[in-house]
Amino acid sequence: MSNDLIQQRDVVTLGGVDAAFARGGNRLCFVDPRSPERCIKTLRADRSPAAKRRAAPLFKRLKPLASFDDNRQEARVFRRIERRIGQEAFELIPRLHGFVSTDLGEGLCCDLLRDDDGRIALSLKQYLWQRGRDRWVESALARFGERWRTLGMPSRRLLLHNMVVQCRDGRAERLYVIDGLGWPDMLPLADLVPALARRKAGQRLRDLDNAIEQLLARQARHGDFGIHGWLPDARREC
Ligand SMILES: Nc1ncnc2c1ncn2[C@@H]1O[C@H](COP(=O)(O)OP(=O)(O)OP(=O)(O)O)[C@@H](O)[C@H]1O
Ligand SMILES: [Mg+2]
Repeated sequence: MSNDLIQQRDVVTLGGVDAAFARGGNRLCFVDPRSPERCIKTLRADRSPAAKRRAAPLFKRLKPLASFDDNRQEARVFRRIERRIGQEAFELIPRLHGFVSTDLGEGLCCDLLRDDDGRIALSLKQYLWQRGRDRWVESALARFGERWRTLGMPSRRLLLHNMVVQCRDGRAERLYVIDGLGWPDMLPLADLVPALARRKAGQRLRDLDNAIEQLLARQARHGDFGIHGWLPDARREC
């Protein structure tokens, strides 16, 4: 992340809320009209920092407004990751390209992960739901896990809809974490003690494995996919 936090003056037209290829619990994701290799994330109008602060417990309301802004928080965490872990981190997370002004407010620009056929990559949750734990995703998970632990990557719980599977020739090849980065602790000791970071990253991977098993067990019981992480085919062609 180099020149990336420089606010750009031109307003990028995203084309309205319905043009988003994905809608998370907090943000809308658009293909960057200036480059198909990048996406722009804007805050959902109903999840503004002010609204989130109002809904927070009393003691958390004392925190500055920016701490309720997912894009600002993400940019801060990425700067920290780049400083502490360095370029190798970007084997596992997309690169950020800074803030841009859009017709839907401030947006944060990052690499858009696509499969080799050009379609937007699926979330790990959707891949597993559609194809199960096949041998390609199994080895992609093993490679991802090895690097994640070795680098001691900081994250909250790794959620299946916050990870993306990049496919080559229709087979899972590489996994990325696109959201939920950074230690949640007030004083992240793990930032100062690499062995602790590796231990915590290892715990996140064990929790991820449990989350995968729970998803597949839910599917076996004919349960619901849930609201997050599904990309309809048409949206993948954006
Ligand atoms: N860089 C990316 N490349 C490909 N797909 C992405 C990328 N970023 C996000 N997505 C897709 O968009 C969805 C929502 O994105 P994201 O998790 O950033 O939104 P959010 O609102 O912050 O999520 P949450 O509900 O976890 O708060 C993801 O589940 C994923 O399918
Ligand atoms: Mg998310």
